[in-house]
Amino acid sequence: FVAQMAWGQEPQANYDESKVGTFTLPDPLLMKNGQRVTTRDGWEKRRAELLALFAEHVYGKTPTQSVRLRFQTLQTDNNALNGRAIRKQVAIFFTDYPKLPPIEVLLYVPKAARQPVPVFLGLNFCGNHCVSTEGDLPLSTRWMSTAVGGEIVNRQNGEPRATEKARGFQARRWPIDTILAHGYAVATAYYGDIEPDHPKGWQSGIRSVLGDTARADNWGAIGAWAWGMSRILDYLQTDPAIDAQRVIGIGHSRIGKAALWAGAQDRRFAAVISNESGEGGAALARRWYGETVERINNSFPHWFCGRYKTYGKQVANLPVDQHELLTLIAPRPLYVASAEGDQWSDPKGEFLGADLTEPVYKLYGKTGIGGAEFPGVNQPVGQTVRYHNRTGKHDVTDYDWQQYIRFADDLVRRDPR
Ligand code: GCU
Repeated sequence: FVAQMAWGQEPQANYDESKVGTFTLPDPLLMKNGQRVTTRDGWEKRRAELLALFAEHVYGKTPTQSVRLRFQTLQTDNNALNGRAIRKQVAIFFTDYPKLPPIEVLLYVPKAARQPVPVFLGLNFCGNHCVSTEGDLPLSTRWMSTAVGGEIVNRQNGEPRATEKARGFQARRWPIDTILAHGYAVATAYYGDIEPDHPKGWQSGIRSVLGDTARADNWGAIGAWAWGMSRILDYLQTDPAIDAQRVIGIGHSRIGKAALWAGAQDRRFAAVISNESGEGGAALARRWYGETVERINNSFPHWFCGRYKTYGKQVANLPVDQHELLTLIAPRPLYVASAEGDQWSDPKGEFLGADLTEPVYKLYGKTGIGGAEFPGVNQPVGQTVRYHNRTGKHDVTDYDWQQYIRFADDLVRRDPR
């Protein structure tokens, strides 16, 4: 950390382990009043403190008012994926805010499995048409980021929109057939339905009607995406095909940050999977390696609350660090995954984040990572908290999904919730 300060204005990304230096992490079990938590009841109080600290200093406060929703099934296909799945498209409308566009949920339910089925719920980066190769899904008509792939976006007439080339563009990251074959449903929605991912995106998303932009703890886009995941869970609770006690929140990268924050706040998520969520996700903020708090706030000023920006040059003063976000998932199963070729996300920092949740899982008689060392590549470790660092780049691969399905089989499917 001291080394980071020496870089001055815009610190370079550090990839040198010998320069990381030492840092002191806040203790998840230490209450603000100095008392140490030793019981589950005590942890409940500390948990509430930590949630409030993450809201005030990192992600912003999620508005607590309940919002009336209307679920409308737009289309059901009882013979999707060559007869293997029931496919539903469901729009979540906001009754009190008729001008807000709906969240459009795409749901695949395996026909061969006995209902209700557990489900993987995760937002996607480029529209529902992007995750599936089925050609009859409507193209999303919303604002599209060109960052995902320039060729799949048309920026000719004003705002960037999806083109036909976007179909199935990220289907490789969503092995729907494999997931269904293991008896899980898949629920997804475009994250831009909740808030388009650019600094002015909030003006057309949920944050245009909820929250208070004048406040330093007003929620950011990550908070909005997390909130959206909970609204999709609201829908899933009404769908008889789904076992709403077994909804596994999953997300990659920025959406992984949102999945963690969603699972931290909303205990209806039975488990959470963070795929390369990095800075502002599973990676320790105080570890000077890869992306930094300063860099993320400069590049993505709309993701976090205003107050988070004040920590760019003084990370040591943050009242929390990211391992404490992960403790908020306890005692539920948590998977943190990194990729060796994604040093920007700081695999070691993500591992440490997961590892440091151990004392909280212990309060519940559970083993988290269980004292394993930072493992070599493609060697998953841990029990209720699991971790792997796979070979390859920043991505979601079949290898990742193999581990997630095994994790869900071991810890979610059989858990008598
Ligand atoms: C950028 C950003 C990361 C983020 C990633 C992504 O690299 O710096 O924090 O996780 O985008 O969402 O793919």
